[in-house]
Amino acid sequence: MLNPDAQQQLIDAALAARQHAYAPYSKFLVGAAVLADDGSITAGTNVENASYGLTICAERVAVTAAVSAGARKLLAVAVATSGAASPCGACRQVLAEFGGSMDVILVDADDHDAFRTTTLDQLLPEQFELDSSD
Ligand code: THU
Repeated sequence: MLNPDAQQQLIDAALAARQHAYAPYSKFLVGAAVLADDGSITAGTNVENASYGLTICAERVAVTAAVSAGARKLLAVAVATSGAASPCGACRQVLAEFGGSMDVILVDADDHDAFRTTTLDQLLPEQFELDSSD
C-alpha cells in the first residue's frame, strides 16, 4: 500500500485533472492519475468525441502520457468520478500492462472526495500476458 502522503497526492492529482475533463456528451467527468516507480505522477481526463466511439477514458490518457514520458512501471492509479466509479474493462487491461498488481484508488468527487482502495489484481484476475523478451 502507498503511504498516506503519496496516496493523497495521487487523489489530489486525479481530482484536479477531473476539472479539465472534456465530456460534453455524457457529462460524466473523470480524472485519473498514475504513480510511476520513480515517484512521478501523471494525470489525464476523459476526452470525448462527437463520433462517440473515439472517446478516450481518463485512465488510458494518464497511462499513455506517463509511458510517453518514460514510465514503464506503475505502482498506483487514482480515479475520480461522481460515485467512485471503477475503471472499465479496457482500461483495466491497459493498466495491467504496466503494473498488474497496482493499487487502485476510487475517489468519489461528490462525497467530500471520499475514497476506497482496491488492487488491479482484484479488478482483473487472471490477467492476459504475452511472454515477450522485451
Ligand atoms: N470513462 C472513463 O474515463 N473511464 C472509465 O473507466 C469508464 C468511462 C469515461 C468515458 C466517457 O467519456 C464517460 O466516462 C462515460 O462513459
